[in-house]
Amino acid sequence: MSETYDDLYLQPDYFGADASPLLTEFAHLLPSGAQVLDLGVGQGRNALSLAERGCAVTGLDTSRRALEMTAAQADARGLRLSLVRQDVLTYDPPRSFDAVLCFGLLQMMSPAAAASLIVRLHLWTRPGGAVFLTAWHTGDPSFAELQRDWRRTGRNAFLAPDGERHRRFLASGELRSLFPGWSVAHYTEGMGPAHRHGDGPEERHGEVTAVLINPLQV
Ligand SMILES: C[S@@+](CC[C@H](N)C(=O)[O-])C[C@H]1O[C@@H](n2cnc3c(N)ncnc32)[C@H](O)[C@@H]1O
Repeated sequence: MSETYDDLYLQPDYFGADASPLLTEFAHLLPSGAQVLDLGVGQGRNALSLAERGCAVTGLDTSRRALEMTAAQADARGLRLSLVRQDVLTYDPPRSFDAVLCFGLLQMMSPAAAASLIVRLHLWTRPGGAVFLTAWHTGDPSFAELQRDWRRTGRNAFLAPDGERHRRFLASGELRSLFPGWSVAHYTEGMGPAHRHGDGPEERHGEVTAVLINPLQV
């Protein structure tokens, strides 16, 4: 079993109404009319923002409610999105993309799934294209608690007692090492901003944010 977001998405804008600041800051790297794949599109804040800029966005998610809410927002704003309900690990896209977005997905994967996701990011980003990624690192406040209370499944990886929720934390410098030879347009490891999900408590995460460029082949 894997984690479902359907219940969380009963609250609108669960991850915020606005696009990730990382995407807003670096969207200028995308060519006009860029083909973009948003993995774990959620309620669509990032996909919708890029569609508004004229990108052709494909959004993938396992959550039916996520896709329904994103489609409704796209309709309301007169935007076109291609939305696919599928697991990222079984998706077989017809092309590579100018950019692949991976916001908040890596940290909820098992070690094997996370490794497979990284391979897919390599395969699905065209030469010269960009991966935009946020994930949690071992400085996240939950890391020590999960080390104590959840079952260890790999290096810095844990499974909840319910057997459904995985968490996989990046060690310092690990993400860069997973993209050898790629250019780094942006990279931080620190504490992300304080925020709330819906009416939940205030949270901050140990967050890696990165924009990595697939080298042009010669
Ligand atoms: C933390 S949320 C982030 C949502 C969105 N990227 C954002 O930043 O607002 C992760 C999303 O990934 C989706 N997801 C989780 N595992 C997935 C998988 N294996 N394949 C596709 N989507 C997945 C969840 O349903 C959820 O909508």
